[in-house]
Amino acid sequence: GSTVPMIAIDGPTASGKGTIAARVAARLGWHLLDSGALYRLTALACLEQGIAAGDEQGAAAAAAALDVRFVADGVFMGGRDVSADIRREEVGNMASQVAVLAPVRAALLDRQRAFRCPPGLVADGRDMGTVVFPDADLKIFLVASAEARAQRRYKQLIEKGFSANLLTLLRDLEARDARDTQRANAPLAAAHDALVLDSSHLTIDQTVEQVMSWWGERSGASRS
Ligand code: CDP
Ligand code: CDP
Repeated sequence: GSTVPMIAIDGPTASGKGTIAARVAARLGWHLLDSGALYRLTALACLEQGIAAGDEQGAAAAAAALDVRFVADGVFMGGRDVSADIRREEVGNMASQVAVLAPVRAALLDRQRAFRCPPGLVADGRDMGTVVFPDADLKIFLVASAEARAQRRYKQLIEKGFSANLLTLLRDLEARDARDTQRANAPLAAAHDALVLDSSHLTIDQTVEQVMSWWGERSGASRS
């Protein structure tokens, strides 16, 4: 295992993983890995290059060839700012389709592990605690009801100036949950040693506080 401390946050779409991971990383002064962005970037590359979701070799090659750079508030692919593009629902849906492919997941493994460097890492996704960082110091499985998640995603899209339909979002979100949970490769699941956090009725601040408090207990305990 690695001696670099890390917190893994997994969970279904729109449970708040990205938001909570970013806040916790900022509080601790640690690096941040948004692993979903790598699947979204792969999806965007496939969509732009006309690679079909069923083309395993094509999608894996696109994943391996990704030329990405994560900067303060953006993601660059081949020198182009694609921060907004990768957030499109169409790209998210394609991401969950290429994410079922084992060669795609394998192509992204080392890239994800390379983010674990001092002083620490907070990583969010579907398989951070189960597959990519099984020795994470703290594993959180962040959940929220489908309705709460659809509402959050709706608000998020509208605020960014996209159009959105709540019922369509709820339907797409449930389809994405099913695909992420039922796939054979690295399915969405809580690690056996993960702490489950239900944020359906929690604010962002309350959720961050819970994670920080668990981390305080964990890191305090390992020092004594
Ligand atoms: O923001 P949202 O939770 O909808 O998605 P995301 O975290 O950006 O990930 C997009 C898609 O990539 C998900 O639907 C998953 O299928 C896939 N993914 C994955 O398979 N493994 C990860 N560690 C992260 C994302
Ligand atoms: O990364 P993931 O798809 O799990 O979710 P996210 O993009 O971080 O969060 C989805 C939306 O829910 C964001 O707009 C957050 O501000 C919001 N959110 C919330 O309203 N209440 C929470 N307790 C957590 C997140």
